[in-house]
Amino acid sequence: MRKIVVRGGAELTGEVAVGGSKNAALPILFAGIVTEETCVFYNLPRVSDVLRALEILHFLGARIAFEKSGEVSVDYAPVTPKTPPAALTSSIRGSVYLLGAMLARFGEAALAGAGGCDFGVRPIDQHLFGFGKLGATEERAEGVLRLRAEEGLCGARIRLAMPSVGASANLLIAASRAAGRTVIENAAAEPHIAALAAFLSAAGAHIEGVGTSTLTVIGVPRLHGARVTIIPDMIEAGTYLALGVACGGRVRVRGVCPAHLTALTDAFSEMGVGVEIGKDTIAVSAPEGYRGIDVETGPYPAFPTDLHPQMAALFCLGGRAGSKGSVTENVWESRFRYTEELRRMGARIDVEDRRAVFYPSALTSAKIKAPDLRGGAALLIAALSTRGIFEIDNAGAVARGYEHLESKLRGIGARVQIY
Ligand code: UD1
Repeated sequence: MRKIVVRGGAELTGEVAVGGSKNAALPILFAGIVTEETCVFYNLPRVSDVLRALEILHFLGARIAFEKSGEVSVDYAPVTPKTPPAALTSSIRGSVYLLGAMLARFGEAALAGAGGCDFGVRPIDQHLFGFGKLGATEERAEGVLRLRAEEGLCGARIRLAMPSVGASANLLIAASRAAGRTVIENAAAEPHIAALAAFLSAAGAHIEGVGTSTLTVIGVPRLHGARVTIIPDMIEAGTYLALGVACGGRVRVRGVCPAHLTALTDAFSEMGVGVEIGKDTIAVSAPEGYRGIDVETGPYPAFPTDLHPQMAALFCLGGRAGSKGSVTENVWESRFRYTEELRRMGARIDVEDRRAVFYPSALTSAKIKAPDLRGGAALLIAALSTRGIFEIDNAGAVARGYEHLESKLRGIGARVQIY
């Protein structure tokens, strides 16, 4: 996908069925390696990051079958400890989970670069600190990071410097087969961590404290295959809800877990947006527009960094936003690249350090480029709510996280074409 062409200005109304969570699917797919058996994944989103993860697993020897009824089964038995080429692993951030999984299964792991969205430095020192505590040694040569634990991993107490989602997931995977008890303190409590823990538990792991900041894992020598349904993608849901708010109709997302989106729905209520929450649905409407507010991102249950740019787009919309809004980004310091593109559309934005202030402005047609996945989603929101024709380049960055983007958008009345 190269380009999204948007004819903006239409009111969007209707329902969007939300798919499986990319951020839950990636660690779970790699965690399957430690089961050494066949695992079956339901509701696996067919987004490019997930397809790339399956390609990496295929390279390692896994046998993958896309079943007619929609589920994907992966036989992990034939996996061997090879090093996937950097070209494969560097395109997705999720490939970092190979480290924990391969280390737990083979006592060795190698990674030639991990990618994902470019928010400046994306360190993995906490992952490595934890692997070290579990008994692994580390070596880097010619761009390849190698971890070894020839005697196997041994449970330990690991206190993370920050509640990193990636490090918590990687260490959970590794600890599931380490000898003895591992305690991960200051762990992330994101729904995708709970989803990973549920998968590992279904495969025979012993994990306690899920959803809290202390995870305790009692390692077992072997796990077994499991069947798992990937949880709904809260970020996809949040993006369509933001779109509904931007475009003034009534948009309902279905198949969501509303509890995961409390930070967003609370923010919408503060903005004066009408929010209706059902058992697995959320609907929003803001026919008269909304107020700007101050949002601060942070680890769950705080406002998710992955919904920051979409919220920012709402604050820029002249005619819809009644007052200025701001976002303070506490997770990724360089997450403001989308502001350059919004400025091209006429947005007035002041960025200072980790905080950006957005003033409602009359936006106009422009040629813009998705700087990353969620930044691209923000541009889509701004374009769809503004009269005129917009071309968003680098559409592939957006496709990384939104399944059936074109048909879902058209389903609620958006005039878009993706090339
Ligand atoms: C983070 C988000 C996640 C989001 C993803 C992509 C949080 C807590 N995590 O997950 O929800 O889906 O970005 O946008 O909101 N850090 C270190 N050393 C490490 C690991 C992390 O310093 O070893 C720092 C990072 O620089 C960052 C913060 O910790 O400032 C959070 O990182 P982490 O949660 O690991 O990132 P992701 O797993 O990519």
